[in-house]
Formats: sequence, C-alpha cells, structure tokens
Amino acid sequence: MTSATPRVPIVGGNWKMNTTRAEAHALLRDLRARFDGLRGVEVVICPPAAWLGDAADLLGGSSLAVAAQNVYWEPKGAFTGEVSAPMLVGTAAAVLIGHSERRHVFGETDEDTNRKLRAVLDAGLRPVLAIGELREEAEGGRTEAVLRRQLTGAFEGFDALPPDLVVAYEPVWAIGTGLAATADDAQERCAMVRAILAERFDRTSADACRIQYGGSVNAGNAAGYAACPDVDGVLVGGASLDGASFEAICRAFVA
Ligand code: PGA
Repeated sequence: MTSATPRVPIVGGNWKMNTTRAEAHALLRDLRARFDGLRGVEVVICPPAAWLGDAADLLGGSSLAVAAQNVYWEPKGAFTGEVSAPMLVGTAAAVLIGHSERRHVFGETDEDTNRKLRAVLDAGLRPVLAIGELREEAEGGRTEAVLRRQLTGAFEGFDALPPDLVVAYEPVWAIGTGLAATADDAQERCAMVRAILAERFDRTSADACRIQYGGSVNAGNAAGYAACPDVDGVLVGGASLDGASFEAICRAFVA
C-alpha cells in the first residue's frame, strides 16, 4: 500500500433491475442480519430505485449503506421518469455513475458522467464512478487510452479529486459473463487507474482514493482481489443477490 492512511475496503452490491418488492425485503433483512456490526469493510447496497426507500428503512441504523444505481443531473423539473440527486438525499448515501450498462445500453457519454458527478457532489452524496473498456478495446491494446478518456471526461473542469469518490474499474467483457479478470490483471488495471488519477490531480489524493474491481466477482475469486495492493474492494452484480455469496465476498476483504 502506497498511501499513508490505509484505505478501508469498500464492497458494493449492485442488484441491477432485479427483485420483486417481497424479494428485496427478504434480501435486505437477510443482509442486515449477516452484516450488522461487521468491521473492517464498508458495505454498500445498490437496490433498484423503486426499493431505495424500503432499503433505507430496513437497513437504517445498521452498518450497511444504501446507494442509488443511477441519477439525473438536473435538480428538478419536467424530466419524466428521472430521479435527481437532491431527491436521493436522506435515502441514499452514494450513487453509481457511469456503469457500463448505463454507457452501453442507454448510450451515456463521458459528458453525461461529468454532469452526474457534479450533481451528486452538489447534493453532498458520494459518487462511485464506474469505468472500463470493451472487449475489442482490450484486444486492441487500447485499455489505458479508454480509461484515461473516461476519467478525463468525468473530471472535466475539476480542480481536485473529490475526497469521498470511489472509482470502480469494471472491464465490460467481465461483467455478467463469468469471465472475471485475473487478480493480477485487476491489480495492474487498478494501479493504472491510480496512476492516471495521480497525473490528472496529485499523488496524495490518488493514493487516498479507493478503487474497486468489478466483473464476475464471486465467493471463490474474491480473496484473490482482496490480496491486491491497489484493489480496494469490489463491485458485485449477480453474486450480490445471494446473501451467503455476498457475505463471503465482503468477508474476504476484512483484514
Ligand atoms: P457481475 O456485475 O458481478 O454480475 O459481473 C458487475 C457489475 O455490473 O457491477
């Protein structure tokens, strides 16, 4: 570890567009029972927007935080179907921005991530900024250029790296495919992200920034990522819908 202050690992569970209300309640209760009082790892649950209020109620007073999977950058107005950052205050502590499905299914641009980042910070919430390259970009040797472009775009106009911000490095080819990056590759890419942040801002804030790996993380491979010096946690999709698997992943990060 290069930073003076150790980085507390952070693990996110991104449920995506899954769970009925009854399933969400059951999973939230199960997670609360499993995790309450767990020390040494920060755990953030990202349920669908429809259950954010329920999650805040059912996890209230526990050590589990709630995050939104998406946000719109305008604070209010005629934007049917959207949810603004000020609306999340009091319910979510953090917001995922730029997830690969937002970028590649819904066409979000780097400029959009920049607007969302500003809105989330203005509302006093923690951004979790997701970046990552497509398979063809990785195969074409363009990973570093893509990560640099995504980070530069997201931070356009920023003078400093927001202290609470978390970066999630998620290679698109590893998401939901079962083809997880090796621990060595995850380490190399997370270190690459840190180097880009140090170049764009400064070494101290880059060393303090937590960087997660995401993409087909499961109970079997989590310990490999936990052993990597530049991987400060994971962002979990599919395996976060199973309480036992998600617990095993989170416990792998407890030193
Ligand atoms: P996965 O999803 O764990 O199902 O691959 C990861 C993510 O999308 O964050």
